[in-house]
Amino acid sequence: MEKTTRQVETKSAAETQALAAKLAAEMPAGTVLCLHGELGAGKTCFVQGLAKALGVRRAVGSPTFTLINEYRGTKPLAHVDLYRVRGAADAFGLGLEDYLFHFDGIVAIEWAERIADLLPADCWHVNLAPGADEGSRLVTWVRGAADAK
Ligand SMILES: Nc1ncnc2c1ncn2[C@@H]1O[C@H](COP(=O)(O)OP(=O)(O)OP(=O)(O)O)[C@@H](O)[C@H]1O
Ligand SMILES: [Mg+2]
Repeated sequence: MEKTTRQVETKSAAETQALAAKLAAEMPAGTVLCLHGELGAGKTCFVQGLAKALGVRRAVGSPTFTLINEYRGTKPLAHVDLYRVRGAADAFGLGLEDYLFHFDGIVAIEWAERIADLLPADCWHVNLAPGADEGSRLVTWVRGAADAK
């Protein structure tokens, strides 16, 4: 099925979170969401929006050192940050397969391209790029294949 790419310019971190919250409502359990964009692009900010939408009470930070944080919400949320992972070989042993293929919630992965070969075929992809000014971002996304319209 043809996948449609959509794009919105957000004018603030709050707008990026609101967009994430809106999209969270369309993500079934089992969704793997790959987040792309440079340092400071807003990937963690986007995950914070997902967390809010799922009613997660704990503050969502960056799992840079732990690599994977799990949160309880209306659906479980797993937040993975692969910045320190150089490739699939490095990722081996993190238990990622369980998150990629058997997680009953939403799995959001920063720097997902580091494990491109391991990703399921039907991931959602969200890319964040600098916008026209300091506080704006171009957010581009493609839904997972299973529910692409
Ligand atoms: N429109 C916007 N959308 C998202 N974040 C924005 C926006 N405008 C400004 N910001 C700011 O940009 C920063 C984004 O930081 P964030 O930690 O989310 O980036 P990141 O992509 O996760 O970086 P890293 O790769 O280091 O983990 C925050 O300080 C946020 O307030
Ligand atoms: Mg981050």
